Amino acid sequence: MNPSTKKKLLITGGAGFIGSHVVRLFVNKYPEYQVFNLDKLTYAGNLENLRDIEKKPNYQFVKGDITDAEFIGSLFNTHQFDAVIHLAAESHVDRSISNPLEFVVTNVLGTVNLLNAARQIWLKSNSVNGDISSHMFYHVSTDEVYGSLGETGLFTEETKYDPHSPYSASKASSDHFVRAYHDTYRLPVLISNCSNNYGSFHFPEKLIPLAIHNIKNNLPIPVYGKGENIRDWLFVEDHARAIDVIFHKGKTGETYNIGGNNEWTNIDLIRLLCQIMDEKLNREDGESAKLITFVKDRAGHDLRYAIDSSKLQRELGWQPSLIFEEGLEKTVEWYLANEEWLNHVTSGAYQKYYEGQYVKR
Ligand code: NAD
Ligand code: TYD
Repeated sequence: MNPSTKKKLLITGGAGFIGSHVVRLFVNKYPEYQVFNLDKLTYAGNLENLRDIEKKPNYQFVKGDITDAEFIGSLFNTHQFDAVIHLAAESHVDRSISNPLEFVVTNVLGTVNLLNAARQIWLKSNSVNGDISSHMFYHVSTDEVYGSLGETGLFTEETKYDPHSPYSASKASSDHFVRAYHDTYRLPVLISNCSNNYGSFHFPEKLIPLAIHNIKNNLPIPVYGKGENIRDWLFVEDHARAIDVIFHKGKTGETYNIGGNNEWTNIDLIRLLCQIMDEKLNREDGESAKLITFVKDRAGHDLRYAIDSSKLQRELGWQPSLIFEEGLEKTVEWYLANEEWLNHVTSGAYQKYYEGQYVKR
């Protein structure tokens, strides 16, 4: 197929953790799409995540900033994207506590810039009869917008928003804007809210990759507070598959929760990880667990997240593919086999990959 006749799909934040899995899945599975990966390459963006698909004819990287309205407007005008899957964001809660404004600018303003650009090209090109059904703005969000649960209950799509951290407040705000553009301008949108992801290419500032890195290097594993906070963990490739299913089969205007039905306290998770690492590194049982170090708790630390993903399972037939113990072992194996990736990330060398090697515009 001639690239100019292919359906043009813009994926934002495709050099990040989840975005790179989504880009890989779409590039490999849908040769009929021309996939554009728009990423600013912040500290979290790493084109080494996409080495295996970077030369595919249906893939193109664009370095750019979603907060730059003029640039975004002209990018949409030039390429006339048919659809957007929007993942670009500042994503780390601890960073949002130190620098909330950056989260407002990237997550809220950046999302509104993309919505405006989509609105301008799609509504203009279809203004005659308002048929915009061939287009889609898919916004990838988090379960953290729902706030914190007590000991029981699950977040459903109807749960009232109650964000507590600057990160979750900025994501909640961006979700509201996406819904507002649907209700006000009839922009075709989809939103999904997913629980905590884990897997390959995860930046080692987040709990699981940080712990793997520290255990490997005999460094303390920082556990906030008493380690009693609960997260619902999902293998990142299952999230990417859910995005694929929702993008292709989801009902316009709807929200879908994505989760693994897999709740762990942080301390139990870290103990399991230590056991796996002992085994893989041929250490004595209990050796890695000696690195566990309880540190000052995160401010406003949400106690428990847990997702009810029954709507997605019932209506679109998605299911998680891996049980956590398997997924975590697979993840550990990946980090141990990809020492170079981890070394490049921790040394900062990954930031030279774009300048030095792979540029296709
Ligand atoms: P990440 O931090 O690993 O990646 C974010 C990507 O966005 C990076 O490649 C970065 O360079 C890019 N980016 C940041 N600012 C940009 C800008 N101004 N312009 C263009 N690109 C920019 O994040 P992630 O963990 O992969 O999360 C991706 C999305 O999924 C986010 O929207 C996040 O809120 C959401 N989410 C994440 C999780 C999780 O567990 N990580 C769970 C649910 C939802
Ligand atoms: P994180 O991976 O930052 O994801 P999120 O805050 O989006 O859930 O943290 C997961 C959990 O682990 C959260 O309860 C905070 C905790 N945590 C630690 O105990 N130590 C750490 O070093 C980090 C980064 C997180």
